[in-house]
Amino acid sequence: MSEDLWTRPLDAPSEPSDAASAEAAETPAPGSVTLIIPTFNESGNVRELLRQLGDSIPARLPVEVLFVDDSTDDTPEVVEKAAQDCPFPVAVLHREEAVGGLGGAVVEGVKRAATDWIVVMDADLQHPPHLVPELVGEGERTGAELVVASRYISGGSRAGLAGNYRIAVSRGATWLTKGLFPRALRGISDPMSGFFAMRRSAVTAEALKPLGYKILLELAVRCRPAKVAEVPFVFQERFAGESKSTAKEGLRFLTHLASLRTATPMARMVGFGLIGLSGFVPNLLALWLLTRAGMHYLPAEIVANQAGVLWNFVLIEALLFRDRRRHRHWADRIGRFALLANADLLLRIPLIALFVAQFGLAVLPATAVALVTTFVLRFAATEALVYLPRKGTKHRRAVR
Ligand code: GDD
Ligand code: MN
Repeated sequence: MSEDLWTRPLDAPSEPSDAASAEAAETPAPGSVTLIIPTFNESGNVRELLRQLGDSIPARLPVEVLFVDDSTDDTPEVVEKAAQDCPFPVAVLHREEAVGGLGGAVVEGVKRAATDWIVVMDADLQHPPHLVPELVGEGERTGAELVVASRYISGGSRAGLAGNYRIAVSRGATWLTKGLFPRALRGISDPMSGFFAMRRSAVTAEALKPLGYKILLELAVRCRPAKVAEVPFVFQERFAGESKSTAKEGLRFLTHLASLRTATPMARMVGFGLIGLSGFVPNLLALWLLTRAGMHYLPAEIVANQAGVLWNFVLIEALLFRDRRRHRHWADRIGRFALLANADLLLRIPLIALFVAQFGLAVLPATAVALVTTFVLRFAATEALVYLPRKGTKHRRAVR
């Protein structure tokens, strides 16, 4: 990634005088803060944002602002100019490639933050700047590792969320997410919020695989902060420009949910099973079409099975093994996958025969046991033979 990082003062705080350090020893200094602001074409907002931040941040709170920018407009230049009037250091990290979108940008910022606290906020003034010190203050007061600005607790509202459609989508997404992660999101009424403070020590940046907008969800699920607090906020109207969120972003969100939910092997196996079950639909549909077109049912069964295999492959690739696809060419993966899926069918018959003849099971339970056995085998084989990094690549890196 080629990037250019310019900074204003940042590394130029003057040596504190003896009197000042004596005073600092008496009143505990509030934790230092990196304020991470992701930007994508926000040139109309950043000047006003910095002005309001300048008004809101008390002198005793050490804040550095870091814009992580994927803009194609002149946002970095506008920030650079506006930063000259700021009482705190301001830096811009411009990325040539917008890897991971909004969430990827935030993680880039987190990796660079060496302060006690990280605060993440949008650049369009939908997140009130005066709450930045309040979020950190609430964390210091309560000992929380994560403080979320929430629209859904008393005192908060989503006034600036444009239109009933967006409100419904946002509410639905919140319920779905809370339902999928009841434990990780306990105490978080607004997991979709993009405005929060987190202790740097509670974030393991290496564990994060952000995908699009929902970076708070990513942090809460993968880093499991020990204690969570919330502060109400009123979601404002955008100051200038337009939202960058699209229908494609919605699809990305669902993919993100699936990959978070299937992070453990057990959850992955359940997902594998559910996808497998859903494969009956295209399978039966194809069977119906083929036999109606006059094909004999036996070859039709074999062909229709491939429709189910293809369906399963596409879903498993997109939802379960998203980040493990690079080790093999897609043609190689689909070939192996199809081979395993069809081998499953072939293996089941002799297995049923074995259970019936050797163990004296009736046909129905024998079939059920065979189904489960081949399912578990197929899951393990798929994971090992299709999606495991080849031997050597990882090892060699570890040796170096
Ligand atoms: N660096 C970078 N890269 N920044 C991005 C990108 C990107 O690809 N996409 C968006 N941003 C920045 C925008 O410039 C803005 O500062 C911030 O991320 C939020 O983008 P908006 O386009 O304004 O998002 P929104 O208002 O639709 O959604 C916000 O509110 C939602 C709650 O309803 C976000 O905070 C969401 O995270 C939040 O769920
Ligand atoms: Mn916005």
